[in-house]
Amino acid sequence: MSPTTDEIEVKDFVVNQKNGVKGLVDFLTLTTLPSPYIQPPQERFTSDKILFGSPVPVIDVSNWNDPHLAREICHAATKLGVFQIVNHGIAPAELKGVIAAARGFFELPAEERRRYWRGTSVSETAWLTTSFNPYKERVLEWRDFLKFEYLPQRHDFAATWPSVCKEQVIDHFKKIKPITEKILNILINNLNSVVDESNKETLMGTMRMNFNYYPKCPEPSLAIGTGRHSDINTITLLLQEHGVLSSLYARATEDGDKWINVPPIAGAIAVNIGDVLQILSNDRYRSVEHCVVVNKCCSRVSIPVFCGPGC
Ligand code: OGA
Ligand code: NI
Repeated sequence: MSPTTDEIEVKDFVVNQKNGVKGLVDFLTLTTLPSPYIQPPQERFTSDKILFGSPVPVIDVSNWNDPHLAREICHAATKLGVFQIVNHGIAPAELKGVIAAARGFFELPAEERRRYWRGTSVSETAWLTTSFNPYKERVLEWRDFLKFEYLPQRHDFAATWPSVCKEQVIDHFKKIKPITEKILNILINNLNSVVDESNKETLMGTMRMNFNYYPKCPEPSLAIGTGRHSDINTITLLLQEHGVLSSLYARATEDGDKWINVPPIAGAIAVNIGDVLQILSNDRYRSVEHCVVVNKCCSRVSIPVFCGPGC
């Protein structure tokens, strides 16, 4: 089937003209979902797929040396592949600050945002794009994202980052790193191994952060924010904006199409296992599939930090 004029025009506006989905929503009064965003029925998320009654564990990490804590983390990583942590030491005001910085970036004028568009970004270590691979995908996701690469060994790695969010992003990377190390220590110790100089580079040699932005959507049931996927890296620590509708779902069972909500909780950070850790653990830990739904009434911001092998 060849693309329709609508498909070509929408994709050109969003991708080639570097407006993103945010531009589409801001410039046009959309009452229906543009056709490139209409997911095939099997990819849509419907409420009958939600599994209630087995919530994602919320783990208090105020004492990292508590053996009970290690058991809880390993159990969640094995059974579900996702859990949330609270009392991790990052102050609520700092979490709010980085969410506000992400909103600050997406509220910049379109021409400012466009300067960071992938391929022609003014920064080598930060770029804005949409969907997963907008050039290859026929059906697009209802999401724009700005990706940052953390290269603290290069003194100028953040020199060209947008000033509206630069400080908050650097600070968030710095705060997330030791928490990630502590979780990985627990998970690797449980495999009768240790995190040391010999494997640290493989486990967490790179750190990247997304500012995910999901605009409000005229027909949310036909669209998807982020389609079902597992993260290819080692482990991801995700900050969700608090006070917006529940949007993130994790696959409950391998054999059925059932999904558990990962609700936004004030002060919490969601942690999910990625493919690298599933492979390194010989399938002991589960790299959980997850997806994001969108809604009609409000936009949503989320901020994952992806730790993965060095390149
Ligand atoms: C991702 C992801 C979840 C979210 O960016 O890989 O799964 O809530 N994001 O935005
Ligand atoms: Ni993900």
